[in-house]
Amino acid sequence: TRTAVVIPAAGRGVRLGPGAPKALRALNGTPMLIHAVRAMAASRSVSLVVVVAPPDGAAEVKSLLDAHALPERTDFLVVPGGESRQESVRLGLDALPPDHGVVLVHDAARPLVPVDTVDAVIEAVRDGARAVVPALPLADTVKEVEPAAGPGLPEPVVATPERARLRAVQTPQGFDRATLIRAHEEVTGDVTDDAGMVERLGVEVVAVPGHEEAFKVTRPLDLVLAEAVLARRRL
Ligand code: C5P
Repeated sequence: TRTAVVIPAAGRGVRLGPGAPKALRALNGTPMLIHAVRAMAASRSVSLVVVVAPPDGAAEVKSLLDAHALPERTDFLVVPGGESRQESVRLGLDALPPDHGVVLVHDAARPLVPVDTVDAVIEAVRDGARAVVPALPLADTVKEVEPAAGPGLPEPVVATPERARLRAVQTPQGFDRATLIRAHEEVTGDVTDDAGMVERLGVEVVAVPGHEEAFKVTRPLDLVLAEAVLARRRL
């Protein structure tokens, strides 16, 4: 069965500081989104990439894709995004032609994910999992707090989950198409990833090993790290 990828790239990237929408900012001279698209198209299984552009930036994103060399075997579509990541992903799903049984959702903000991770996620779905997340163990201990009443105020700690059982999840997350579409139709409310929506349907989600280089570019320091990773790859 064929595999499509939806790349939500409509976020403004406020935490990265002022500037262009996050996905359009450059890493070593190339927009983050182009790195992310290449990372997906590097997989021989991926035949379609749907980029969800900033609502007023679809034309700019289309010309960016045209301007960069991308593999011939992969088709590209650009659709305008929405107010939230969830809405952007749904708009991307709406644009999918029917002949793709496996759908990945990948953040443009994770431009450096290695192809082996992409392929591992696809393979797990092909092997029968309905929802797959790449995940890594945590370096930090995590605590649940009672959020502070105001900025700078101390926050009472409520609990310390056992670190060995926790994972930080990344993208691409992989899905059986029908399951992901049903999740986006039926699940409402605040969910920060697509697999979380599938969990709310009561459908099992499994984790496969993620990769350190699949980190999300969120804050200014992440740009420094991403450019260092790219420079090292060129060696
Ligand atoms: O903000 P965050 O880093 O969690 O965003 C994750 C991904 O979701 C990014 O690639 C961002 O461009 C995308 N996004 C989107 N539409 C929004 C908000 C975020 O496509 N309205």
